[in-house]
Parts: sequence; C-alpha cells; structure tokens
Amino acid sequence: MKALCWHGKGDVRVDTVADPEILDPRDIIIRVTASGICGSDLHLYDGLMPTMEAGDIIGHEPMGIVGDTGRDVKKFKFGDRVVVPSVIACGSCYFCEKTLFSCCDSTNPGADLAKAAMGHAPAGLFGYSCMLGRYPGGQAEYLRVPHADVGPIKIESDLSDEQLVFLSDIFPTGYMAAQNAGIELGDTVAIWGCGPVGQDGSDLIAPLEGTEADRLRQERSEGLSQDGGMPPILA
Ligand SMILES: NC(=O)c1ccc[n+]([C@@H]2O[C@H](COP(=O)([O-])OP(=O)(O)OC[C@H]3O[C@@H](n4cnc5c(N)ncnc54)[C@H](O)[C@@H]3O)[C@@H](O)[C@H]2O)c1
Ligand SMILES: [Zn+2]
Ligand SMILES: [Zn+2]
Repeated sequence: MKALCWHGKGDVRVDTVADPEILDPRDIIIRVTASGICGSDLHLYDGLMPTMEAGDIIGHEPMGIVGDTGRDVKKFKFGDRVVVPSVIACGSCYFCEKTLFSCCDSTNPGADLAKAAMGHAPAGLFGYSCMLGRYPGGQAEYLRVPHADVGPIKIESDLSDEQLVFLSDIFPTGYMAAQNAGIELGDTVAIWGCGPVGQDGSDLIAPLEGTEADRLRQERSEGLSQDGGMPPILA
C-alpha cells in the first residue's frame, strides 16, 4: 500500500510499504477513506517529537470501511463505516474503566520511554513515535486498528466523511478543552490559537453555553483563516 512516512525534520514521503495484517483477535483492518492532518503532525514535521524513526507511518485522524476483522471483534463486520480515535484504549484497565482512555496503561509498549521524556506515559497513539507505541498511522491506504470494540465509532448515518472525520481527534479535543475549563454563562473566554481545535472549542462554547464567540466571528470576517492560520487572538 501507499502510506505517508516520516523520514526526518521537514521530510515526509509517500512510500510503498507492507499492507497491515490482523495481529490480535481484537483488531480490525480498515480501508481508509478520509484522514486528517493534525496540528500535532506539524510537531512531527518540525522534528519536535523524540523517538520518531525514519519510515514511521504518520496520521491519527482516520476513518474508513472495515475489511478484515479479528475473531473476537463484536462491534464491526466487513463493510461497516468507522471513525477511528487517535488514542488506542484497551477498555478494561484501571483508567479505561474510569473512561480516562488517553491514560490507558496497557496499549503503549513505549511507556518507559514516554515516562523518561514526559514524566508520565499516555496510551498508545497512531502514528506518533516509539514512545507512544509505534503504531503505524492512518495517513495510509489501510490501517490496523487494535481494540476495535473499544474506541472506534460505528457510523450508521449518511453524513459525509468530511462531516465525520473530525470526530477522531480534533473535535473531542476542542470539546474537552471547553468542558474542562468549566465555562459558565457570563464568563469571558479567550482561546489562544484558532486552528481546528480552537475553532471547534469556540463553536461549541457558543451553542452550549448560550454565548457568542464574537471575536472568532470578527477574525473570520476579516478573512484570517484564508492564509491557513490566524494571528494571536488576545481578548
Ligand atoms: N488530543 C490532543 O491532545 C490534541 C489533539 C489535537 C491537537 N492537539 C494540539 O492542539 C494544538 C492545536 O491543534 P490544531 O490542529 O488546531 O493546530 P493548528 O496548527 O492547525 O492551529 C494552531 C493555531 O495556532 C495559531 N498560533 C500559533 N502561534 C500562536 C500564538 N503565539 N498566539 C496565538 N495563536 C497562535 C496558528 O496560527 C494556528 O492557527 C496543537 O498544539 C496540537 O498539537 C492536541
Ligand atoms: Zn492530533
Ligand atoms: Zn486501558
């Protein structure tokens, strides 16, 4: 298959690599139909993430159609449509039982490296270095998805890929940031950085809290997203 591989700072290439295979009975293989490029991929591109290795397949915002399924998979069958979250969670460890999926302590074989670098180890993550498990990522034609019954979302609507793919990473990140901030009606909120995460956070705050993301509207009306980025938004 073709896949986008990291080769060093500022150097990613579409390479021909081996197709993924079922390695565990809880795996599925999907044919990727849409795959986002996260702001976090820019950190890889800029050479900021330790323990990347030349040839690593990147991408952690994929969705697609189920091909193979491991024999223990219950939620999916051949042909199902699925959005795959960036985080790989086992569903049964101490953290997963508390729905703290990004803290899953059984899916990251690079946990010791992560602890040394960051103090604590998160769950495994697609396409994001040895210290996050070295799982081949989703900017590829096919993807192996471990623990398919836990995180992946089965899609049974006819919404388009473009409407759904942000469920994998960007949308829940903005949502959780807005939720964790404990915003109440009447608060003034400043969001630094209005890429997709910041914009999802802002868009969510407005309808949820009955408020208005007025600065964001102002920034957009001035055409600031047209150059692919926004200047600092300081309240
Ligand atoms: N689950 C997660 O933890 C998770 C998921 C997705 C993204 N992220 C992180 O969230 C951040 C945003 O992601 P994104 O995909 O929206 O990235 P992005 O690169 O698309 O957007 C970042 C925005 O920040 C702006 N910016 C840069 N410097 C700024 C400054 N000094 N002041 C104000 N704005 C500034 C840029 O112009 C850009 O619009 C990234 O750091 C990414 O790594 C985390
Ligand atoms: Zn991301
Ligand atoms: Zn777990």
